[in-house]
Order: sequence, then structure tokens, then C-alpha cells
Amino acid sequence: MDYPLNEEMLDGLLSEPDFELIEMMKRLPGDIMILGINGKMGLTLGRRAVNAIKAAGCAKQVIGVSRFSDAEGRRKLEEWGIKTISCDLLDRNAVRELPQVPNVIFMAGRKFGTGGAEDLTWAMNVLAPAHVGEHFKDSRIVVFSTGCVYPLVGAGTGGCTECVVPDPVGDYSQSCLGRERIFSYCSRTYGTKVLLFRLNYAIDLRYGVLHDIASKVWNNQPVDNSVGHFNVIWQGDANSFALRSLEQAASPAVALNITGPETIPVEYIAEIFGRLLDRSVTYVGTPGDKCYLNNASKSFSLFGYPRMPLEKMIEMQAEWFKNGGRSLGKPTHFEVNNGKF
Ligand SMILES: NC(=O)c1ccc[n+]([C@@H]2O[C@H](COP(=O)([O-])OP(=O)(O)OC[C@H]3O[C@@H](n4cnc5c(N)ncnc54)[C@H](OP(=O)(O)O)[C@@H]3O)[C@@H](O)[C@H]2O)c1
Repeated sequence: MDYPLNEEMLDGLLSEPDFELIEMMKRLPGDIMILGINGKMGLTLGRRAVNAIKAAGCAKQVIGVSRFSDAEGRRKLEEWGIKTISCDLLDRNAVRELPQVPNVIFMAGRKFGTGGAEDLTWAMNVLAPAHVGEHFKDSRIVVFSTGCVYPLVGAGTGGCTECVVPDPVGDYSQSCLGRERIFSYCSRTYGTKVLLFRLNYAIDLRYGVLHDIASKVWNNQPVDNSVGHFNVIWQGDANSFALRSLEQAASPAVALNITGPETIPVEYIAEIFGRLLDRSVTYVGTPGDKCYLNNASKSFSLFGYPRMPLEKMIEMQAEWFKNGGRSLGKPTHFEVNNGKF
């Protein structure tokens, strides 16, 4: 099996467009703007879009918007053929200067650091969406959201479907529901087509739940199993589904759960990493039955199953550690079950 051995190979793998995405680009009218592009997922989402457009042979621009606090991200995007615009989405006047485009992916958000700066998280997750929803009322918008808007549930439930009424725990998750409500309001008021993309744990090899568990095992640290189960999806699949969700946006707004098909026990994964990394595994925490779990069946019926299987993600993750692959140093805190991030 081929494993990505460095970040260039990993970024390349994450940006390979699939047939369905290429076909969608042939149908989708107009340019695509990605708001909050300069993060873990946005860079390769932008590149994947450009690659799909090239493969489709159509003329369509991809525009990436962020504050670009990290200049390296901007350099990479420009190199990959993405036009970049620097803009703070909290600045209403600056948002009003952004060019109008038919297709918008909203990815900006704030999670970590919420404790002690709750007001900033609410502003970022609720006020910025108000600016964007108002300015782009004639666009179709895919809004990155989270499975954390649902209540915590036991593994036996198979996870929350879109029919479960949101009941978020803590400021971060509540502000994410606030983000959804603002975009839903815009959809109802202006007729904007909106899709609420409720994602649970995208991963690449530099961050994510598998990375976090493997890192503990690799460094001989105990794995926290307080939250006993989780869902995961390869970032490439999640990004492809996000772009394809543009065609599913509707008014009133629709919600769509996005994750992998498995409800995965933490201990199952930790034991596999123990074997692959030749380490003994220890645990900390009291195993509980309250987890953030999504049931993404509806997305599978729309888009098919994710292409990247769990086993392959696990093997690639173990090889990444053995080869000294870089970590982003941004733990997911998947073990948190009280909403305090
Ligand atoms: N990764 C996951 O597994 C996961 C799971 C559930 C939900 N989500 C949500 O999905 C979205 C994308 O995920 P991600 O992991 O790529 O997030 P991320 O790494 O936090 O990236 C978001 C980017 O948005 C930009 N941004 C933040 N505030 C901004 C502002 N005021 N104006 C303009 N840009 C701003 C930042 O870049 P600059 O500093 O350059 O502006 C940041 O890097 C996020 O909203 C996240 O909460 C992700």
C-alpha cells in the first residue's frame, strides 16, 4: 500500500478530485468563494475545487477569503491557482466589499479558547454569519456546522440523525446552533439557498481523533476513554461532500450530517495503534456513554459512502508517526463531554 510520506504527498492526496465532483463542476453555474479558507480543511478544499474544475475543463474561479494570519497558507493557495482576498468577517463594511459570487462555502469559526473568551466565540460564530448572510443573500451557501449541536447520546443509538432536535451543551456548541439559526433566518427571509453541513471529526494525518489517539499511544501516554465512541471521516471525502452540497442547498435551509459510517470505540482504535506502533496501551478516565455521535445515512444516500475506508486511515496514521510526520499541535479534545472547549 502507498502511504503519504510527507506533507506534499498528503496535500496532493487530500486534493485529488473524484468523478462525481468533476461532473458537478460541469453543471454548477458560476464561481466559488470559500470564506475562512486558511484553516485545517480550507486549503485542500480550495485546491480540490481547482483540480476538479481543471479536470472538468470549465472556466470557473475559486476565491479564498481569510484574514491570512498565516502567510504560508496564502502563498500555497495562490500557487495552486486560488485567488485570495484578505478580509475579517467580523468587519461588516469589509464583508460588504467582497465580490458577489453564486456559490459560497462558509468555513470560518472559533472553538478552542472559548473558555474565558465566550463573547469572542459568539461574535465569530453568530455575528460574522449575520454579515455573510446579509451580503450573500443571492448566493447558495454551504455552512460548515458541527455534530455538537445535537445532544450527547449513547453508542447504542447509532448517532443522531437530522430529525433529532438540537440541544447543544456549552457555549461553543450553543454558538454553533446560533450560526445555523442566523443562516436559516437569512434563508427564510431572503430565499437564500442554504445547507447546514453538520460535520463530526474530519481528519488528515496531522490532526484529528485518530492522530490524537495514535499520538498518545506512540508517546506512551494514557488514552482518555471518557467519551467511549466517535465518528470520523477522511478530510478529502468531507471536502468533496462540502463542495457537492452546493447543489443540495435549499430554502428553507436544510441540515445534513457528515461523517463516516462507523460508530468507533476509542479502545478498539487504541489497541490497533498499540499493535501497529509496538506499544502497550494504557487508559485514563471513566468510560461513559455520552458521546457526540452523528448518523450520516442521509448523506450516503445523496453522495455514496466516503471513499477512504477506516482501516486505511488507521494504517496511514500509524505510518505517519513511524516516519516522524508533522503534527499541527491542534488536539480535537474529542474526550470533552461537558461542552467546555
Ligand atoms: N475539522 C473538523 O473536524 C471539524 C468538525 C466540525 C466542525 N468543523 C468546522 O468546520 C470549519 C472548518 O474547519 P477547520 O478545521 O478547517 O477550521 P479552522 O482550522 O479553525 O479554520 C478556519 C479558518 O477561518 C479563518 N477565520 C477565523 N476567523 C476569521 C475571521 N474573523 N475572518 C476571516 N477568516 C477567519 C481562520 O484563518 P485566518 O486566521 O487566516 O483568518 C481559520 O484558520 C470550522 O468552522 C470548524 O469549526 C470542523
